[in-house]
Amino acid sequence: MTTKFILGIETSCDDTSIAIIETDSKDLDTPPSVITQKSFSQEDLLSKWGGVVPEIAARNHLAKLVPLLKQTLESVNMKMEQVAAIGVTTQPGLLGPLLTGLNTAKTLSLIFEKPIIPVNHLFAHLEAIHLSRTTKYPYIGLLVSGGHSLYLLVKSQRDFEVLGSTIDDAAGEAFDKGGKILGLGYPAGKIIDDLAKLGDPLKYNFPIGLKSSADCRLSYSGVKTALRLFVEKNPHIKHPGGDQYSQDLKDVCASYQHAIVGALKLKLKYAMKAVNERYPQKLEVVVGGGVACNSYLRKVLIETYKDVFFVQPAFCTDNGAMVANYAHRIEQDAISFPECLTLDAKGRY
Ligand code: KG4
Ligand code: ZN
Repeated sequence: MTTKFILGIETSCDDTSIAIIETDSKDLDTPPSVITQKSFSQEDLLSKWGGVVPEIAARNHLAKLVPLLKQTLESVNMKMEQVAAIGVTTQPGLLGPLLTGLNTAKTLSLIFEKPIIPVNHLFAHLEAIHLSRTTKYPYIGLLVSGGHSLYLLVKSQRDFEVLGSTIDDAAGEAFDKGGKILGLGYPAGKIIDDLAKLGDPLKYNFPIGLKSSADCRLSYSGVKTALRLFVEKNPHIKHPGGDQYSQDLKDVCASYQHAIVGALKLKLKYAMKAVNERYPQKLEVVVGGGVACNSYLRKVLIETYKDVFFVQPAFCTDNGAMVANYAHRIEQDAISFPECLTLDAKGRY
């Protein structure tokens, strides 16, 4: 067994996160151990802007990266010399934030002569399933985050085929924009999830986008507009601030969440149908990305379909461990020093 330590750096949006995993470099079946992870969420700093402002996010990453790296190494009493390779998110994401992580990786590479493994953020989200569970290829991936919502056929760690995606907002955006309409702050996925537990999901009827098209495309602009019109007609629903929430607001959260999750459930059926025509065996489904933390989504998909596996909540929202884990899975793509110093970030797809 050849044990290796891989450092993962994530800065594609508003979370600064660094982790070290320990792997057996020849073994892709045994989940690696996440020996440490240190993260800084900019949620509080960005909530006053009502969302992510790329330049402010990039400046916050710059301020946090070096202290976090120091904390990460110190927490396991390690030195950079012991790290075999540096995985870093290079795409997709916001260009300024991506460059802060990439340039940190390059600086470390320059000082310690370590190779860099460029990581695709979307693939890293889904492949984070391997941090907790051995999962065979091919599988159906459902990636639901603040920036993306798509169904994928994952044939290997490098071979991802898009089966369908949202034509407008991502599921996480539907939560966040809905939260803004309801006066719940940013980001709103977690708070809507929590309030919905105390509400009635069937009290109000919010629409499911592209309901009658028999494919796995999603659309969330209609449900968001329906919520906006509903709150305009019923202004008392909007949260006035403070920590008391009305029962009406809880019912609206539950019903709105029911529509977002209902769309994901319905369109998963079409994704499964499309791949099951191509494969004799029934494929497992893996769900990852920030929205995969949602407790109602977990309950509904597991109750409806068998063989649905969720990335562990700790590795669903943006994190360094998923980057290190994916870097481990594509280790042959490592760019050795000094060639890696010319690597660039590709930004958005
Ligand atoms: O994966 P992620 O950290 O960032 C992107 O790559 O976009 O996902 C962030 C998204 C946000 O939209 C946030 O509201 C949502 O994940 N989210 C949730 C929950 N926790 C985070 N959405 C619904 N329910 C949750 N419990
Ligand atoms: Zn993400």
